[in-house]
Amino acid sequence: MGFSVHWIWFTALSCLLCMGGEVWCDCTEENMEIEGGNYTLTKNLHIGSMLVYHCPEGYYPYPALTRLCQLNSSWRPAPKRFRKQRCKMVQCPDPNVLENGNVSPPQEFYFVGNETTYECYSGYKLRGSFKRVCLSNTKWSGSTPICSRDAGDNCADPGIPPGATRTGNVFDVGDKVKYSCSSNLFLVGSSERVCLESGQWTGQEPACYYTHTYDTSQEVSEAFGSAIKGSLTTYEPTVDTQEGRKIRISKTGTLNIYIAVDISESIQEEYIQNATNVTKSLISKISSFSVTPNYEVLFFSSQVFRVSRILDFMDGRETLSTLMTKLDNFTETIKDRDTAGTNLTKVFVTFLEEMALVKQRVKDEGFKEHRHVLIVFTDGGYNMGGSPEPTVRKIKNMVYMNHIQSREDYLDIYIFAIGDEILDDELKPLATGTGGRHYFRMQNDLINLKEAFDEIIDADEVLGMCGLYNSTTVRSEMDQRKRFPWVVFITVENGGSRNCLGSLVTKEFVLTAAHCFQFEDRKEHIKVYIDDQARTVKKITLHPKFNIKAKESEDVAEFYDYDVALLQLEEYVEFSYYIRPVCIPCTKETSDALRLVGTSTCKDQES
Ligand SMILES: *[C@@H]1O[C@H](CO)[C@@H](O)[C@H](O)[C@H]1NC(C)=O
Ligand SMILES: *[C@@H]1O[C@H](CO)[C@@H](O)[C@H](O)[C@H]1NC(C)=O
Ligand SMILES: *[C@@H]1O[C@H](CO)[C@@H](O)[C@H](O)[C@H]1NC(C)=O
Ligand SMILES: *[C@@H]1O[C@H](CO)[C@@H](O)[C@H](O)[C@H]1NC(C)=O
Ligand SMILES: *[C@@H]1O[C@H](CO)[C@@H](O)[C@H](O)[C@H]1NC(C)=O
Ligand SMILES: *[C@@H]1O[C@H](CO)[C@@H](O)[C@H](O)[C@H]1NC(C)=O
Ligand SMILES: *[C@@H]1O[C@H](CO)[C@@H](O)[C@H](O)[C@H]1NC(C)=O
Ligand SMILES: *[C@@H]1O[C@H](CO)[C@@H](O)[C@H](O)[C@H]1NC(C)=O
Repeated sequence: MGFSVHWIWFTALSCLLCMGGEVWCDCTEENMEIEGGNYTLTKNLHIGSMLVYHCPEGYYPYPALTRLCQLNSSWRPAPKRFRKQRCKMVQCPDPNVLENGNVSPPQEFYFVGNETTYECYSGYKLRGSFKRVCLSNTKWSGSTPICSRDAGDNCADPGIPPGATRTGNVFDVGDKVKYSCSSNLFLVGSSERVCLESGQWTGQEPACYYTHTYDTSQEVSEAFGSAIKGSLTTYEPTVDTQEGRKIRISKTGTLNIYIAVDISESIQEEYIQNATNVTKSLISKISSFSVTPNYEVLFFSSQVFRVSRILDFMDGRETLSTLMTKLDNFTETIKDRDTAGTNLTKVFVTFLEEMALVKQRVKDEGFKEHRHVLIVFTDGGYNMGGSPEPTVRKIKNMVYMNHIQSREDYLDIYIFAIGDEILDDELKPLATGTGGRHYFRMQNDLINLKEAFDEIIDADEVLGMCGLYNSTTVRSEMDQRKRFPWVVFITVENGGSRNCLGSLVTKEFVLTAAHCFQFEDRKEHIKVYIDDQARTVKKITLHPKFNIKAKESEDVAEFYDYDVALLQLEEYVEFSYYIRPVCIPCTKETSDALRLVGTSTCKDQES
């Protein structure tokens, strides 16, 4: 493309000349064209350049997705004379794996846009989607259809995803099912699942991927969001004896988050800036949860460029705001540094060494309370430093402390493989952890990823957040006040009847004015209406300094300083769209609601 025959001859000739003289030659564009699409080159035709094929939506490059320009100036894989490179229509994995039901229409191949419907034999009930469409990322829309009948098993039939086969048809406690994918597909998710006493299966539903299958940003957002939430929500320490290992981070525990972002081969400053933007959006998403983690953040190629360290966070030398500033400035600091090559081992070695230092600092007992979440973004593989697997094994040993069963929850490794050529076999085994997917595969584009992180917001998580009002919620036109879900109505029936307003500050307490109450009022006289429901009061607490007559002698008839009262409710309320707390200034919650990063002062909040 664009190169003249002359040029090719010249290249070939100079190649012959330079082979002997230790000078590397360029690859050629001969036979590189693709029918129905086009290609781009990462480093022109130089050694190490990657040729990436592009096809219109609904098509994928076949037989090769990419080609690499090798040291001897030949492409790997080499173009084949009799299998012309072309754009092929996307197919989805075979859905005819449904047991106890029918798939229609029956076809040998299912192409993008094809629709299928699912029906169970009589006596069987359908769970999952009854209708699915083949999407352009080779996945079926909706969820796996499953036909089952109640056979008194402890676990529900886990189904068979398209393209897979399953062994194991009994679903009682301890029973195992195993999955594999048909040829030219590979398995993502759990290849083996065990039925637990709780009625749940271990691991996650597997899926069969082609090498050209990618996760959409929405899928990543949902799957990563739900998995990471498990790590970011602080649980009261509880022991769930059924599963035997349900202890999540207790309120006293420490959470360490390690983030590594691949910037290898990225000559473009803009790419690095996008990478820091993605990192920032992930961190600010994490900071909207109720945990305050320590962060280790680094960017890597063949070298590691460290932005922040766990130890510095522990010592208070680093905070979220200083980290954010450093990220803003990162593009400047990295200028003119060599960003060639990928040494993923170095990343895990850096994390392992930091972990060892943390352990030395807090001693074994303290280290037991530390949870570790590693999040690695890489462009598909490593070309230096060998497999990081032995290092990952050392990290596991350090965290599990010989108690894999009970300490699996203390280590999560998320791998985001983003690129045109992904070495799944090498990257997939690095992901580890419980409670959802840990391996993601995305197309070469950080924008998707930023979108995915921005989308991780779950209404449930937000319900308890203070100060949120819903401009669409006007259920009663009569009273605009109802738009604000923390507003409560208070009535006092003692002799006469008095009305007051108050604000919900927690699930248990209502803040109101002290002057609403008189000396002889008892809790029995008070009703609090929250979302139209009357609630009873457990205790009234007036501000001890409130005294309306305090300044009578100074000719102030009514003195309203300290006009504050708290009502403790007999029963906790449940937060919902219509019941939410108000923000109290100078609190962590207000900081979260204002999306101020890290610890904010009252002044920050005011401004
Ligand atoms: C290359 O192919 C992509 C996808 O089919 C298309 O969007 C783009 O316009 C093409 N570019 C050129 C230069 O033909
Ligand atoms: C180039 O090197 C690769 C291995 O490094 C080899 O498989 C291939 O045959 C070589 N090609 C040529 C044209 O020498
Ligand atoms: C499936 O998709 C292919 C390609 O678009 C189309 O030719 C075929 O008619 C479709 N089959 C059905 C049953 O819709
Ligand atoms: C960086 O992000 C912008 C959008 O925010 C996008 O338009 C641009 O293509 C990205 N650049 C690179 C090199 O990824
Ligand atoms: C990165 O984010 C900043 C602030 O949000 C924005 O101004 C900048 O354009 C972004 N950079 C890129 C390359 O998208
Ligand atoms: C970041 O860069 C700005 C301007 O380029 C500079 O004023 C500031 O001191 C830098 N901050 C850090 C922490 O390096
Ligand atoms: C990759 O990193 C490891 C660990 O730091 C180091 O031992 C190795 O020499 C590095 N390899 C290369 C090729 O730089
Ligand atoms: C606002 O209220 C509607 C129901 O009235 C609900 O569907 C929606 O999710 C709410 N939005 C927020 C941000 O809470």
